[in-house]
Amino acid sequence: MENLEHLFKNNKEWAESITKEDPDFFTNLSKLQSPEYLWIGCSDSRVPSNQLLNLAPGEVFVHRNIANMVIHSDLNCLSVIQYAVEVLKVKHIIVCGHYGCGGIKASMENSDHGLIDNWLGHIKDVHRLHADELKKISDATDKLHRLCELNVIEQVSNICNTTIVKNAWKNGASLSVHGWIYNIENGILKDIIETPITQA
Ligand code: CO
Repeated sequence: MENLEHLFKNNKEWAESITKEDPDFFTNLSKLQSPEYLWIGCSDSRVPSNQLLNLAPGEVFVHRNIANMVIHSDLNCLSVIQYAVEVLKVKHIIVCGHYGCGGIKASMENSDHGLIDNWLGHIKDVHRLHADELKKISDATDKLHRLCELNVIEQVSNICNTTIVKNAWKNGASLSVHGWIYNIENGILKDIIETPITQA
């Protein structure tokens, strides 16, 4: 059995490099987390939230799943949103998709992917909702890119419609919801909802 020793070595070097800069970093962080941002992104290994935002541990609360979905009945995602909004009192919720998303691509195919097709069905709903616009795009890559963007916009809408976010706004919370997309080919983020949503 491989014991993945190299990962422990990496970890030790990483922890040492941080404590060299700031000897109290981990001690201080162990007492409190107060991130300003909740990141909802894709599980894709090429889209690592902290690294691409250049943020340190403690600065972003993270939920990731295939194709960065916010499903109305997904207790996992809803629990993350509730904790982030009501306990951590984050100021920003960011849904970040990425171009070339494998989950989105698979949802456009009619082949059998097994259990995951039940999850991808939610993206098929987004496709159907925007069928008229997508039908006009003949290039397959352009169509995939646009569906990646439309999916983010729909998930932003789903977040705004949760009881958690609606109640936070009703209670006067300073909370905005953002929709972004990440380009895995150049590492650059783009805002696809020009004005962040601050209330329904
Ligand atoms: Co993806």
